[in-house]
Amino acid sequence: MTNTLSINIEQLRFHWKNKNTSNSAVLDIPQWHVQQGESIFLHGPSGSGKSTLLNLIGGILSPTEGKVTLLDTDIHQLSSTQKDRFRAKNIGVIFQQFNLVPYLSVLDNIRLGQQFSGAKYDLSRIQDLCNSLNLTIDLLHQKANQLSTGQQQRVAMIRALYHRPPLIIADEPTSALDTDTRDEFIQLLLQEGQQNNCTVLFVSHDKPLATHFDRSVALGEINHAV
Ligand SMILES: Nc1ncnc2c1ncn2[C@@H]1O[C@H](COP(=O)(O)OP(=O)(O)OP(=O)(O)O)[C@@H](O)[C@H]1O
Ligand SMILES: [Mg+2]
Repeated sequence: MTNTLSINIEQLRFHWKNKNTSNSAVLDIPQWHVQQGESIFLHGPSGSGKSTLLNLIGGILSPTEGKVTLLDTDIHQLSSTQKDRFRAKNIGVIFQQFNLVPYLSVLDNIRLGQQFSGAKYDLSRIQDLCNSLNLTIDLLHQKANQLSTGQQQRVAMIRALYHRPPLIIADEPTSALDTDTRDEFIQLLLQEGQQNNCTVLFVSHDKPLATHFDRSVALGEINHAV
């Protein structure tokens, strides 16, 4: 682990514009820092704002106030094209659902991420990642919508890890996995994180998983919104 900051949040406030409960912020985070290479387990009650925070860090939502700096880049100051490029290169994203393009093959889904990130195509890297997650190679040619949810989550993981991004954000990525597959998933995620000095921000309700991570953070510790 180095001392570089991976995520630096300052005076971040966020409220939904479409909500009538105007001005009641979902998030009010005066500051929060994550070092490059740290693995963080983020938890908190349902509806407390975990996914909202991940979407702000991933550049999908914009803060109402404040700053989100990733690897020294203030992402919300970027144009939308610059933001897309920054995201594709630097952030591997795994969400619980809506991860894959349903009508494309598994391989094409992975290649889409690879092409956006600017990384070289390396079939043996894909095969190695499939092996680590117990996905058979012939699945690569199946359409994404013909996979089980747990298989889709693992493909999303491969797509997120493929280009060794410096930051991985994962929002309840193991919800559809049996315990053995879940453990392999976490092991691969943290092993890839260590090998590539990658920051891992992992949201889950599955509290016992916290022991595998460098730090466990309750959203309520950093979020002052009521
Ligand atoms: N698109 C939206 N428009 C308006 N309000 C929203 C929207 N998405 C989420 N919210 C609200 O924002 C709050 C935080 O939601 P969020 O999805 O971040 O919670 P969470 O901690 O991820 O919950 P869970 O553990 O159930 O996934 C909730 O009160 C929710 O109702
Ligand atoms: Mg959520």
